[in-house]
Amino acid sequence: MSFEDKTIIVTGGAKGIGAGCAEVFHREHGNVVVLDVDESAGETFCELLGDRAQFIKCDVSREAEVEEAIEQAVAAFGGVDVLVNNAGILQYSKVTDTLEEDWDRILDINLKGAFLCAKHAIPHMIEAGAGIVINMSSVQAFVTQQNVAPYVTSKSALIGLTRSIAVDYAPEIRSVAICPGGVDTPLNRAAFQQSADPDRVRQETIDLHLVERMAQPDDIGELVAFIASEKGSFINGQPIRIDGGMGIKIGGSKKSE
Ligand SMILES: NC(=O)c1ccc[n+]([C@@H]2O[C@H](COP(=O)([O-])OP(=O)(O)OC[C@H]3O[C@@H](n4cnc5c(N)ncnc54)[C@H](O)[C@@H]3O)[C@@H](O)[C@H]2O)c1
Repeated sequence: MSFEDKTIIVTGGAKGIGAGCAEVFHREHGNVVVLDVDESAGETFCELLGDRAQFIKCDVSREAEVEEAIEQAVAAFGGVDVLVNNAGILQYSKVTDTLEEDWDRILDINLKGAFLCAKHAIPHMIEAGAGIVINMSSVQAFVTQQNVAPYVTSKSALIGLTRSIAVDYAPEIRSVAICPGGVDTPLNRAAFQQSADPDRVRQETIDLHLVERMAQPDDIGELVAFIASEKGSFINGQPIRIDGGMGIKIGGSKKSE
């Protein structure tokens, strides 16, 4: 699995799952470009990675910033071979208590951001005759907790975007949606802190997974890199669940029940 001379753009790559993906691609000799709104975390992370890593500040929900960032990445490394649309936010609300501005913000980052990055990266992939767009969906596109209506809508729609890209740009370009269960990241840790009893909610989250743990970011990074590599070249247009067996058991959620 070598990405030597390949360029991988990871959105939201300064922390969490995106950083896990960037680390694996970098370890496998790829040129990694991290797009993120968190300049300080992104700069620090790319300095830690070292050569072949570049941070570009970019809000994926703004087309002008996306277009400029992708041009910068292409200028730095000569192309875009893999786009990982990972940037995303989570906010808790049901349909009846979601403000229009919150709906727009969540959909703009989680869904429109992926569309915009794909829109500006795919022409470079077509020019090169190959490429792959990986969209970070969620297991919540299939099984859904309460109180996350805009998030679930965005993650479900990413599966449609994935299918459209796969159909419209085959055979040169593939697209795959990744659907993680609970991953130990700043996003999840912040979500636990919003509850009255973070430790209990964390344990309840762990208990949803038959493997009795949450994923680490590099669990997801290893799958993303495999799919983007030659070894994954027959995987296309599909949502792939990586969720520790969440939601497949009839009855209690724990392995022991
Ligand atoms: N953590 C989980 O359990 C889990 C499970 C399934 C899917 N996901 C998805 O994986 C992705 C990453 O999640 P995470 O847990 O690593 O989140 P995180 O909050 O830990 O990291 C997300 C990164 O995205 C960046 N970001 C936010 N808005 C942005 C924007 N407008 N433009 C560019 N960058 C932006 C943040 O600065 C941050 O660095 C998200 O799309 C999330 O929905 C997470």
